[in-house]
Amino acid sequence: MKKIIIAVDGYSSCGKSTMAKDLAKEIGYVYIDTGAMYRTVTLYCIQNGLFQGNEIDVSRLEKEMDKIDISLRFNPLTGRPDAYLKGVNVEKEIRSMEVANKVSLVSTLGFVRKALVAKQQKMGKAKGIVMDGRDIGTVVFPEAELKIFVTASPEIRAMRRVKELDTKGESASFEEVLENVKTRDQIDTTRKESPLRQADDAVVLDNSYLTIEEQKQWLLEQYHKVISKLDYES
Ligand code: DC
Repeated sequence: MKKIIIAVDGYSSCGKSTMAKDLAKEIGYVYIDTGAMYRTVTLYCIQNGLFQGNEIDVSRLEKEMDKIDISLRFNPLTGRPDAYLKGVNVEKEIRSMEVANKVSLVSTLGFVRKALVAKQQKMGKAKGIVMDGRDIGTVVFPEAELKIFVTASPEIRAMRRVKELDTKGESASFEEVLENVKTRDQIDTTRKESPLRQADDAVVLDNSYLTIEEQKQWLLEQYHKVISKLDYES
């Protein structure tokens, strides 16, 4: 069967990664979480003293960017890739509130995006991938055969994020998380470099009131539609 590229873009904490991961598993594709790559660069900046409060040493980061050793390795226990920084598993660290609060600053930098987009394009060269992020259908793979744009209300996204943090033993108030969700939306959609926007040919999914199972079925339908069309055309 023909292999395709599936781009899943949308707002933060929309459950993109869960649905992208589940779809990849179901159809035997590789799942790539590009947000984890931006988070790992952010963690590098925190660990190496590149932040003074919310100010980032841009010229130092630019010099060091090519040397930051980021990799994603499949974890059979979770069925998704874990992020590694210099060979060390940093999956837990990159999901902290500290990284969440700073990652938007790092992801607005053009040279960071350029370096990570090049890596992502390399990862998807052989197709058979589901990649989630903000600019996958618009910048990384504008030729992706299937593009999904996911959205849900900020309150519902904040509620989901609080629950997720809670299961990891990290407590955060609903208000704090809601504020973070809204700030990230604002930065993600208004930044100069590759702002979050829906690709013209994307299919929109508002999952505010859908269960994970319903989303899964919906996504599978979209995938089968594209595959049958491609099979019919070839
Ligand atoms: O999906 P996430 O919440 O883990 O993403 C973390 C941050 O990285 C988010 O603020 C937006 C940014 N990001 C981006 O700019 N481009 C991507 N392709 C993926 C994430």
